[in-house]
Amino acid sequence: MAKRPTPTTTRRHAPDPRDPRDAGPRDPDPHDAGLPAPAPARADVPAAFDRAAAAYDRLVAANPGYHAQLRRSARRLRLPGDGAGLHLLDLGCGTGASTAALLAAAPRARITAVDASAGMLARARAKPWPARVRFVRAHAEELRAAGVTGPFDGALAAYLVRNLPDPDATLCALRELLAPGAPLAVHEYALGSPRARAVWHLVCWSVIVPAGRLLGGDAGLYRYLWRSVREFDTPAQLCARLERCGFQPARALPMPGWQRGIAHTFLTRRPAEPGHGVAPATEAA
Ligand SMILES: C[S@@+](CC[C@H](N)C(=O)[O-])C[C@H]1O[C@@H](n2cnc3c(N)ncnc32)[C@H](O)[C@@H]1O
Repeated sequence: MAKRPTPTTTRRHAPDPRDPRDAGPRDPDPHDAGLPAPAPARADVPAAFDRAAAAYDRLVAANPGYHAQLRRSARRLRLPGDGAGLHLLDLGCGTGASTAALLAAAPRARITAVDASAGMLARARAKPWPARVRFVRAHAEELRAAGVTGPFDGALAAYLVRNLPDPDATLCALRELLAPGAPLAVHEYALGSPRARAVWHLVCWSVIVPAGRLLGGDAGLYRYLWRSVREFDTPAQLCARLERCGFQPARALPMPGWQRGIAHTFLTRRPAEPGHGVAPATEAA
């Protein structure tokens, strides 16, 4: 039997001038000076979203493309028949923006929307939803234990994967919750060029962090957003990550406007044939 790859996490590494992630300014950044809240570590991200929940919808409403881009990623799943008879997963649903996008793409589907942050989920649950939509509080790493077992006929994970302490292990487990052949859309920031890195830096420090503070958000969370995107995969690396987690080769589909080259839909599927994918080392034990 072929040796299975060990799941890897995103990690900081020694600067490498050939690695696009090492281009541009690095911590400590002059813009960090004076920020009141420390940026959270990945394991603390759901708790940070608890604190940010009250301001989250106001903040994303100030981003003109936010909801349209989520809808674009959900449409890219190409779910048949308005989703009739399908059970879909929105992993890292937050206040429900991605859930609404999934519902727009598949208005007749049953949707299970999961998030680890009680504060974000409370905001989501307070909105009007059809009875086919249910919200579950769970860590993405512990879905089965929370009774989220699938099989799902499609899944959307928007702005989640970058925040996971062990993205490979979680993606491998997610693959197992999908029905064979089911599509997955990972909607995520991934910087692949010096231009994208420069635009990201500029937009974060001129718009996102100040707006986060102005609208009553958690400045530490938005500083974390800036840094986590800088340190996360390039598009090619995220495609490779999905593939080594046993998904079919992924495609990075672009977003329009200033987010071109910055945000993408990473579209893939669980292989249709059992045994076609590469299982993680943890499952071999
Ligand atoms: C940036 S928000 C995105 C929310 C929503 N998908 C959207 O597009 O607006 C990321 C969400 O992922 C959740 N999250 C982060 N790490 C998580 C984990 N390990 N398990 C479950 N949810 C997590 C956070 O609580 C937060 O609500």
